[in-house]
Amino acid sequence: MSNLPRRPQSLQEELRAASRFLATAGSEDARLEAEMLAAHILGVERMELLLRDESLSESQRATLEGLLQRRAVGEPVAYLEGSRGFWGLEFLVDPRVLIPRPDSELLIVAALEIAVTEMGTVSDWGTGSGALLLSFLHERPGWRGIAVDQSTDALAVARANIVALGLQGRARCLESDWGEQIDDASLDLILCNPPYIEPSEELGPGVAEYEPHEALFVEPGKPYAHYEQVLADAARVLRPGGSIVFEVGRARIDGVIRRAREAGWAVVDQRRDLGGVWRCLALQRGDL
Ligand SMILES: C[S@@+](CC[C@H](N)C(=O)[O-])C[C@H]1O[C@@H](n2cnc3c(N)ncnc32)[C@H](O)[C@@H]1O
Repeated sequence: MSNLPRRPQSLQEELRAASRFLATAGSEDARLEAEMLAAHILGVERMELLLRDESLSESQRATLEGLLQRRAVGEPVAYLEGSRGFWGLEFLVDPRVLIPRPDSELLIVAALEIAVTEMGTVSDWGTGSGALLLSFLHERPGWRGIAVDQSTDALAVARANIVALGLQGRARCLESDWGEQIDDASLDLILCNPPYIEPSEELGPGVAEYEPHEALFVEPGKPYAHYEQVLADAARVLRPGGSIVFEVGRARIDGVIRRAREAGWAVVDQRRDLGGVWRCLALQRGDL
């Protein structure tokens, strides 16, 4: 780390050196990332860094250097910090789970409009960190939830988040291939952000290298296979009037809507993300 000063005089000097190091390594948000990592090491909010005069201790500096080296080769900041904010809550994340994306908060907005009853049962299929399920349960104190994933590793992270957010009494984990292990007519709402990326698609830096492939990719040429299976399972496990809220990939919404209508579902909501991409689709069984 030749760019970092040997004896920094202040935290601000430390941050400038860290930021230069990340910028040289190609980071587009070098200053922000340097601050996030320093704040993580100090256990303070990023804004509090401005109020601190003293520089890092030797061991804190060694830790920062280690994290900067890992960031410089592309490891996502969320994995370095071990957490990511979503819907105003903090979720533990590590390479066993996808890092929750801000666009996925659209599913919570849509779900809260649909779920108007005081009590109900919701399930998050492909829960990963549990971000969707636990954010929803945080907003609907009368509801209970089931975090479903086929990855034992992902469920360990979801379980840790259930405990960290104090939701043990209302949320449980279930290892299942989509709805396979769920009882008939037992749910009021399903949230689902399935893998939807073709292996040939371009992804942002570090995504394919660090995030779990089973959370990202579909089989080549089969971008709708998960949606079809989820719709089939959902038709069996939802109660009359129940709904499903999906996340969909770029240019996929028409394909999902066509398949859903053919299978007897009605579109009740669809939303674009901040980039203008149709990202969220809510469906209800037409015949229920
Ligand atoms: C795109 S990630 C979504 C993670 C999280 N819900 C979120 O929105 O940040 C997809 C998740 O689906 C899980 N998954 C993939 N295939 C599955 C299947 N057949 N049954 C259940 N879960 C599956 C993956 O392990 C991964 O955790």
